[in-house]
Amino acid sequence: MRLLRLVGFGLSGLIVNATLQIVPGATWTATNTGQHIQAHGAGIIKDGEKWYWIGEDKTNGTAFTNINCYSSTNLVEWSYEGALISRTASGDTGPDRVIERPKVMHNKRTGKYVLWAHIDSADYGEAKIGVAIGDSVCGKYSYLRSERPLGFESRDSGVFVDDDGKGYLLTEDRRNGLRINALSDDYLSVSSNVYVWKEKYESPAMIKHEGVYFMFASQLTGWSPNDNYYSTSTSLSGPWSSWQKFADSGSNTYASQTSFVLSVGDGYVYMGDRWHSENLMRSTYVWLPVEISGTTASMKNAVNWILDPGTGASRAGPKENMYEGETAELANGAISQACSSCSGSKAIGYIGGVPSGSATFSKVESSATTRTTLRIKHLNGDKQQRYAAISVNGKSQRAAFLPDGGGGPASSVVHVNVEQGVNEVKVGGVDEGWGPDIDRVFVPVE
Ligand code: DGJ
Repeated sequence: MRLLRLVGFGLSGLIVNATLQIVPGATWTATNTGQHIQAHGAGIIKDGEKWYWIGEDKTNGTAFTNINCYSSTNLVEWSYEGALISRTASGDTGPDRVIERPKVMHNKRTGKYVLWAHIDSADYGEAKIGVAIGDSVCGKYSYLRSERPLGFESRDSGVFVDDDGKGYLLTEDRRNGLRINALSDDYLSVSSNVYVWKEKYESPAMIKHEGVYFMFASQLTGWSPNDNYYSTSTSLSGPWSSWQKFADSGSNTYASQTSFVLSVGDGYVYMGDRWHSENLMRSTYVWLPVEISGTTASMKNAVNWILDPGTGASRAGPKENMYEGETAELANGAISQACSSCSGSKAIGYIGGVPSGSATFSKVESSATTRTTLRIKHLNGDKQQRYAAISVNGKSQRAAFLPDGGGGPASSVVHVNVEQGVNEVKVGGVDEGWGPDIDRVFVPVE
């Protein structure tokens, strides 16, 4: 199966997006906002030719501000479309409320889009589920109500639509366990209990592969990551298998928590959150290919990888050339300075500001002929994002750089067109603000 999928990729390898990389844990800048994507605890739904990524806006921490929606045609470059629901003056969507893990389902009978999410008070004591309805996937939604489904506590949640169009709501009931609930035909109300796992798991995500249901979930450790598990069954009402790990044991699911598993062509992509509870806005996304075969699921870590958005095939990241910041031509006050956690123990500081400090890498070699992804290792000791203008052969775009949190250089990615041969990559400031310190830049060779 794996081999076939790799061959399949070879045949479709001419498609333009084939070398864009998914870099787990990096700053992912939305193409039209220049800001890190704020869509945590998310789900993804395909509607027409586009995928829509719907998740929590953590710009201001845990308190609800927005459920954001981004769109993409290749699952790598995302544009901000708007908020489905935003904070109101009072009520469930008012100030100091918790709204987490929004998931949208499309109801083919009614034509409506139905959103379910965890609704709570700031101390997580209410433990309810909320529902909203929309006429278009990424438009404004009308918030309907919250409740304890069938009278039970409900915190983390997810949704699942079966092949026959029946909808299910997955809820975490702290007293009794993780639940599968059947929804009404219009998906707007919870009609019955289908299954309850006695073991304690949360952050549920379900897929069905060749007649086998897979339930992915995490253990309960708050914002800290743990080894996540899955359980399988050929019937939603069970019996369900015992829980198994799908990532390397002890890796804490590569420092992430399950949010969603997306079916793409013949493949599946695990979508997890790497939460940073001390500053939630700098939480990143850990997306990795998950191999599903029979009744087993397994996932390996990767610094970077390539997804064919048509077939769902995945392959390793490209060969790259690496350029140390200290080899760049520095201008307008940018300087090479000591950085003990950086490669070569140096990084370029004073990018941006006035006059706009810059670092130019003038001999960046590549034989890539398609749009591709540059990985930039940076430092940002602030609590907020910094920004840089990244220009490749004179064409500039803005990239965001999340705070590094004191853990050494972090990564940010930009998707650019490179030319075969020698390219010039310049990192400069944006709007007179200070940019990130640059440790090094990785450029695909092919
Ligand atoms: C774990 C949950 O999975 C998250 O969505 C969030 O509710 C945190 N707990 C809060 O501690």
